Amino acid sequence: MKVSRLYMVTGNRHKVEEAKEILERYGVELVQAEARKLEIQSESLEEIALTAARYAYLQLRKPLIVEDAGLFIEALNGFPGPYSSYVYKKIGVEGVLKLMEGVGDRRACFKAAVAYVAPGVERVFTGEVCGRIAREARGSRGFGFDPIFVPEGESRTFAEMSVEEKNRYSHRARAFKRLGEWIVREWWSMRSNSEG
Ligand code: IMP
Repeated sequence: MKVSRLYMVTGNRHKVEEAKEILERYGVELVQAEARKLEIQSESLEEIALTAARYAYLQLRKPLIVEDAGLFIEALNGFPGPYSSYVYKKIGVEGVLKLMEGVGDRRACFKAAVAYVAPGVERVFTGEVCGRIAREARGSRGFGFDPIFVPEGESRTFAEMSVEEKNRYSHRARAFKRLGEWIVREWWSMRSNSEG
């Protein structure tokens, strides 16, 4: 069952791979797309994702999504949060482990906001997973801070998991499940309206 085709504007193939696995369950075919990126500075992932999605829509003119995500570390008052991508580029996993040296409170959450823009429709779906920052980097899968994040109820980091395993927990999977459920509901209501 193919409900629709949806474009994900990102340069990150890992994000696409994870999102694809979720959306397939809802009959949505996800296709990676490129567009000029507009990344505003904001404390809100929702606002960052929606602004970027609107800008991408002006260029591509087809139903699309843009996702923005970040790692929020409790002991660092939510840092790097919306600045995660910048912090990752500048200091990486080792830099964050250094910041956390001697810190007993390892609690952290990943958050994601997925903005959907199509003709006459704008929606944002969010997802979150909490867990802890590992003492050292482990695993070689995934991307970004995956090697140092252990979700609650697990002993392995995200980088030690397959895409399917990471999707059982991840912020991204949770946001994309919400998007998938919404798409299916919309599809059914459009179908029953046109039949009735
Ligand atoms: P952006 O959403 O592309 O702005 O990137 C946010 C940054 O947060 C990425 O560069 C990663 O470093 C980090 N990040 C977001 N989601 C994940 C994830 O699922 N695993 C590991 N790191 C992530």
